[in-house]
Amino acid sequence: MPDLSQNISVRILKAAADGGYGVPGVVCYNLEAIIACRRAAESKNSPCQILLFPWAQDYAYDNLVNLAADVCRSASVPMSLHLDHAQSEQAIKRAAHTGKFDSIMVDMSHYEKEENLSRTTELVNFCHKLGIATEAEPGRINGGEAGVQDTGDLEGILTTPEEALQFIATGIDFLAPAIGNVHGPYHGVENIKLDFPRLQRIREVAKDKVQIVMHGTNEFTADIFKECVKAGMTRLNVNQVVLLNYEKYAAEKAGRTPATEFMEEGTRLIQERIEWMMDAVGSTGRAGDVKI
Ligand code: 13P
Repeated sequence: MPDLSQNISVRILKAAADGGYGVPGVVCYNLEAIIACRRAAESKNSPCQILLFPWAQDYAYDNLVNLAADVCRSASVPMSLHLDHAQSEQAIKRAAHTGKFDSIMVDMSHYEKEENLSRTTELVNFCHKLGIATEAEPGRINGGEAGVQDTGDLEGILTTPEEALQFIATGIDFLAPAIGNVHGPYHGVENIKLDFPRLQRIREVAKDKVQIVMHGTNEFTADIFKECVKAGMTRLNVNQVVLLNYEKYAAEKAGRTPATEFMEEGTRLIQERIEWMMDAVGSTGRAGDVKI
């Protein structure tokens, strides 16, 4: 099996696991969000991962990918580029061949388990040969978000430790368990019901083999982020939770503000939320844990 210990996504999450903190994985759709990641990471002296969906290449050829990769390589703190929820072989191969992604989520969770496992095994091998780290989702996280196929019509399936082990055997580097988390809105903090005892059992089987990552963090409070990190989550994917102030601002100001001011203030509002999150998950000040 290829040695991925020097892969930057692997090193960032390994350092987080060793240090007992989490790292933001920020879903980015546009320039403002990508720049906000760098500004937040540098001002908080924190590692950070930029997450793009395969949508980015459908929309912008390789241009958004190149921009995000350039930001990761030129930042003064450890940053890496991750392809999130790549749901087809074609999307994975297209992204891998750009040579820009440090890690890819091989998301075959819309297939039944056996097919999910066999496709994951094949695609993990493909990525590893190119030096790209991988992530998979045993079970199925319910819900959907812009850029990800909605599995709402498929039954959500909580991950068992046995399944986690089967997926670890495919060679993956990061594991995204379904523990009651959902993509998209929870419709109230009171509806966020995470099965921490289940996560503890998964953590035991995953220990020293893979890092565990959290999906579905919409509406999370700082306390919920902290609880997830304490329970072993090393990367916490965020989307709406860091965009909410930006979206409010855009709804009020689009078309009424000079473009430069609109972009700068939009970037600042996303940066502010990412910084808030870095404080919550404990990555603030931890950039030095990973040499770049
Ligand atoms: P949501 O919290 O908006 O579902 O997105 C974060 C995520 O998990 C992306 O993979």
